Amino acid sequence: MDNTAELKLNGKTFTLPTLEGTEQERAVDVSQLRAQSGYITLDDGYGNTGSCKSKITFIDGDAGILRYRGIPIEVLAEKSSFIEVAHLLINGKLPTSAELTRFSNLLTENELLHEDMKFHFEGFPTSSHPMAILSSMINAVSCFYPELLSGDPKQHFEVESARLLSQVRTIAAFAFRKSRGLPINYPKPALKYTANFLHMMFSNPYQEYALDPVVVRALDLIFLLHADHEQNCSTATVRMVASSKANMFASCAAGVCALWGPLHGGANQAVLEMLDEIHASGDDGSKFINAAKDKKSGKKLMGFGHRVYKNYDPRAKIIKQACDDVLSKLQISDPLLDIANKLEHAALHDSYFVERKLYPNVDFYSGIIMRALKIPTEMFTVIFAIGRMPGWIANYREVMEDNSGRIYRPRQVYVGPVNQTYVPIKERK
Ligand code: ACO
Repeated sequence: MDNTAELKLNGKTFTLPTLEGTEQERAVDVSQLRAQSGYITLDDGYGNTGSCKSKITFIDGDAGILRYRGIPIEVLAEKSSFIEVAHLLINGKLPTSAELTRFSNLLTENELLHEDMKFHFEGFPTSSHPMAILSSMINAVSCFYPELLSGDPKQHFEVESARLLSQVRTIAAFAFRKSRGLPINYPKPALKYTANFLHMMFSNPYQEYALDPVVVRALDLIFLLHADHEQNCSTATVRMVASSKANMFASCAAGVCALWGPLHGGANQAVLEMLDEIHASGDDGSKFINAAKDKKSGKKLMGFGHRVYKNYDPRAKIIKQACDDVLSKLQISDPLLDIANKLEHAALHDSYFVERKLYPNVDFYSGIIMRALKIPTEMFTVIFAIGRMPGWIANYREVMEDNSGRIYRPRQVYVGPVNQTYVPIKERK
């Protein structure tokens, strides 16, 4: 195969190298194009731009394939756990028993926040969105470990990453307790990652939270399914910040902010609010589907569509199944699930959605499971952030370990005013 591409511009031909990934994804390397020709490439929203080479996650959006480090998501969902998958993503391999014990112990040793962090939570009004608290607190944690912010980050990566992965869930639970005016619960070293989070969220001084294995497994699966998703908005943000050599906490706090938006991780909260609105209005979903097709309505079918998947999101398939299982095991009948099923059926048979290849994404059913697990709606995106942390850390690591890596700095095509004269304030109209 010829491994170059030719580009003709103003009568001149430029030869550009091409490259192929391990899954036969092909790219034209345009890194020297501006130096050679004076042209840059323009790709609004980066839909056709590869920003890096990565060994972590592979997605084939047309075929509906997702693999972490080469292992299909369906296999991991069935056989693995969130912490095992976190090890896989961050360290590049599934852990042996000894490695898993070491990894788990490290998480337990680092689960407590510095006691003074409690005062930081006091400063937020009770109406604060927990994503705002989460991003601020992740950054604040780094102030308590100044030794981690100096020297070579590779040397303290292991403890730094364990601290972040473990404490993100402590911060999330504290933020929730604070928002409800409830006393905080310290983590319990005897509990595993997901069970410990549920304890910190829901135990009360008068009543210990009763851990139900169905609930623990369902939440662990939600974390696992969200653990990485290649160069999405938040992960690309983490890499962008990391490329300036900012520390891991700052980079991942930026990821939390990017995730918060309703077109990204905030969609799981938006889906439930949409289903609630449909239910409250007495609609069975058909009116809403029509509104979602009408651009003037300002409505979208939240939980549908994806930049990369032009097929069923494989995570949505797993979550849909898990949703049915969990609701049946917990003997919950939720009218919102009926509406979601109807919306999905209608959309999958409607030419607007079919032609645009809009399928349910991971957020479409995850909110219904979380509601069944009694997780409040405003915490949905926080749950996503806890799940995504291993992916962010793995991507941070790739950037940090790339010795040839340059700061991420896109260019633009300037379309603003040209060479304006400065008008003194008194003469301005
Ligand atoms: N409802 C109605 N129409 C939609 C939807 C939707 N959910 N999603 C896309 N479309 C339409 C667009 O209006 C556009 O129509 P047009 O061709 O007539 O202009 C067409 O489908 C293509 O959509 P784009 O906006 O170009 O797709 P893009 O890749 O930019 O956006 C996104 C993807 C943001 C996910 C979009 O589908 C969306 O807003 N979905 C709803 C929010 C959501 O569920 N987000 C979660 C994504 S998954 C995640 O982040 C974990």
